Amino acid sequence: MNSNPSYRRFADLSVSEILLNSVFLCAIGCGYVFALANLYYTHQGRDGKPGLSMDDIVIAYHGADDKTRLESALNGIMEPNLRYKSDKDVIVKWIHAGADESGYRNEVAPILARDCQRCHSPDINPGLPDLTSYQGVLAVAKSGGASLPALIRVSHIHLFGIAFILYFIGKIFVLSEINVFAKRALVVIPFLAMFIDVFSWFVTKQVSWFSHVVVLAGVLMGMSMGAQIIISLYQMWFHRSQPPFSGAM
Ligand code: HEC
Repeated sequence: MNSNPSYRRFADLSVSEILLNSVFLCAIGCGYVFALANLYYTHQGRDGKPGLSMDDIVIAYHGADDKTRLESALNGIMEPNLRYKSDKDVIVKWIHAGADESGYRNEVAPILARDCQRCHSPDINPGLPDLTSYQGVLAVAKSGGASLPALIRVSHIHLFGIAFILYFIGKIFVLSEINVFAKRALVVIPFLAMFIDVFSWFVTKQVSWFSHVVVLAGVLMGMSMGAQIIISLYQMWFHRSQPPFSGAM
């Protein structure tokens, strides 16, 4: 396809190189399958239903404002501890409005002091959520989702790790003989998808519908990476000008 003799193609590889490339690509392919399985088990069921759904992704990054531990407890086993049922609405309203500190001082703290702190105090039950301080209450009143430090940590690991993998897959893939424009696009797309993926985590933390972009970017990266692996393996073994084991080395 390319007449410039300084470009190497799969046909120029030694058998050792083909073997090395092949086992590497197979290992990455297996790793990817396990990564998908890991993704499934990490996020599935967050919304209370089995299986992975868009809601699970939203909850993972954005959190669920109606699924805080405090609200669930007030709707469940902790409800009888309230002297007045109407106080539940006061607290739930406060959670949904963002759980700010002034609302806590004025409306929520007096209720908790009267109905909850005889059990929920670090002096009495260190194992239970501390409902004597704003920080303690916030820990069970937050919407959850990924914290900014956690997202930053995962982002840098993700970018470093995936960039290496994509680079090596791409280095092998550029030896293939396909349309040169398709090739150029295919080496760039997975990197773009990776950037969009990481960027979309941070946006989804604020804007829940952006979870669709998380999923799309993930699918795009998987498919473009898969295409590079499959084309490379196929051409190395079945589409060479010379069959692999004909030469020396
Ligand atoms: C009689 C003692 C007692 C009182 C009063 C009490 N709780 Fe609890 N609370 C507990 C115990 C025990 C647990 C642990 C239950 C468990 O893990 O199954 C708990 C757990 C919780 C949890 C954590 C649930 C989770 O997600 O693990 C929250 C939130 C909570 N209580 C809120 C409250 C609120 C709000 C009040 C006041 C309206 C209150 N509790 C009053 C004993 C009490």
